[in-house]
Amino acid sequence: MRKRFHKFPASSAASVLKVDKEFLRHSRKVIVELDEMVKVLNAPDVLKSRALKLARRHLDLDPPIGSQFFDPFYEKFHVFIETSLDLPPEHEEVQLWTSFLSFIIAVLKVEEAKHRTKPSDSDICCILL
Ligand code: HEM
Repeated sequence: MRKRFHKFPASSAASVLKVDKEFLRHSRKVIVELDEMVKVLNAPDVLKSRALKLARRHLDLDPPIGSQFFDPFYEKFHVFIETSLDLPPEHEEVQLWTSFLSFIIAVLKVEEAKHRTKPSDSDICCILL
């Protein structure tokens, strides 16, 4: 998973990453994105369109970042929430955050299925050659 990041030395130790400006900038963007989605929880259409935008942003990377990355991320996400909020695993807030991530991943998976049916740039090149 770490190999997919190019703007910061993602494979470095946590102590190195914690002081890396690009890593901190990226982490802030991820948190802000989640925060923006939480703010529109009561507006399902707006929430869905934000989740779709996030899914497309990752699926449009080359090669795509799809469920093969989001599923393992989901497995670890609760640890991040528990540590950041200093809460036990069974706490309602931890459960709610993981449900929220499930929703984001569900949207991503629907979009991913559509992506798979589209020819990739390399498929198009082969058709043309
Ligand atoms: C809910 C979870 C996630 C959120 C909210 C999120 C959010 C974001 C955002 C906001 C960006 C754009 C950053 C920018 O404009 O500089 C981004 C880029 C990116 N994300 Fe995610 N992300 C998530 C999960 C993941 C996962 C699981 C991976 C797995 C490797 C990943 C890999 C990437 C990569 C490679 C980029 C491009 C980074 C770059 O080249 O600067 N993301 N993500």
